[in-house]
Amino acid sequence: MSDPANPKDGRTHRITFQPNGVTIRCRSDQTIADAALEQRVILPVSCENGICHVCMGERLSGELGFRNELGNPILEQDNQVLCCVAFPKSDVEIVMTDVFAPDHKQPATLACQVQSVELLADDVYRVILLAPAGKAPDFWAGQYLMLHIGNDANEEQLPYSIASAPGALTGKEPREIELHIAANSDKANEVVNFLQQAVIARITVPAGDCYINQHFLDQRKGQPLLMVAAGSGFSQIKALIEATLALDPEREIHLYWSNRAAVGFYLPELPQSWQNNFSNFHYHPIIQQHADDWNGRAGWIYEVIHEDFDDLTNVDMFACGSPNMVFGTLDQLEPLGLKESNMHSDVFAYANRADFSANS
Ligand code: FES
Repeated sequence: MSDPANPKDGRTHRITFQPNGVTIRCRSDQTIADAALEQRVILPVSCENGICHVCMGERLSGELGFRNELGNPILEQDNQVLCCVAFPKSDVEIVMTDVFAPDHKQPATLACQVQSVELLADDVYRVILLAPAGKAPDFWAGQYLMLHIGNDANEEQLPYSIASAPGALTGKEPREIELHIAANSDKANEVVNFLQQAVIARITVPAGDCYINQHFLDQRKGQPLLMVAAGSGFSQIKALIEATLALDPEREIHLYWSNRAAVGFYLPELPQSWQNNFSNFHYHPIIQQHADDWNGRAGWIYEVIHEDFDDLTNVDMFACGSPNMVFGTLDQLEPLGLKESNMHSDVFAYANRADFSANS
């Protein structure tokens, strides 16, 4: 529901609910409760008019406005927020219990067998983990896991995209989890070394709210999906594509996979095989600058998409790469109609558009 009392500045802000870290995106012309409802996040709401206080949380940071006079005094006195009348003027962080992400899956920690660590190409390793018998990991395609490395006294948890869709969709062993790790930093090399020596690796799974399931595909029925990957960001995109091809095999899908050089396409046959098997799947490998060993397309991802589409009003885009890539692509494609609410990326959960975007 839009609120005429709130001056429309066209901005979308991030609302983070603590302590569980659920995030939503909320336009400056809608209440936090309405945005949560739209995004299927469960908030306690009753009167929807600022009277019953069921939707009360505590503001940790950010600026708010209110669509009736019941919000302001309570915020000024006690820093309490009534989500049914509050709209954001900036990113906002709120402490509130009983907030649940849609399709919430409870994270579990599993001790997995390290089945293989294989160098694919360039510096990217494929790691296969096998969960214990009877404990197939429960996640949505596109979510990530936390990999525990080091010993008990000095343990670190690092996020890695799950590169495979759940086995229940693909027919593969449901206990198996695939990761793609680019050994392009000291830390990443440390992780690869750890996995090469470990028999067992502990993971906590799942995490992240950038995923595809049947509900999402039903809601966006018929809308083309643009899958955008930079480098080893292909891992998350691979899981998303596998799930989509299993759940909705006729969905129009375009994969734009960008690398600095040809050697970066570390699983070259896989997208090609999707294209051979599905007439609705279109593969667009891109390198950033033309090179002698490359006769395909070159340039920035958004430039190539510009060549292929003149209207992105009714598409969904999934993007896996750096905040610069994600926000830059969104900036450049908004003039073609791409909506921020139709762009899905883990980047939105940890980076501010204003810090990266030319248009904010
Ligand atoms: S739902 Fe009653 S005050 Fe918000």
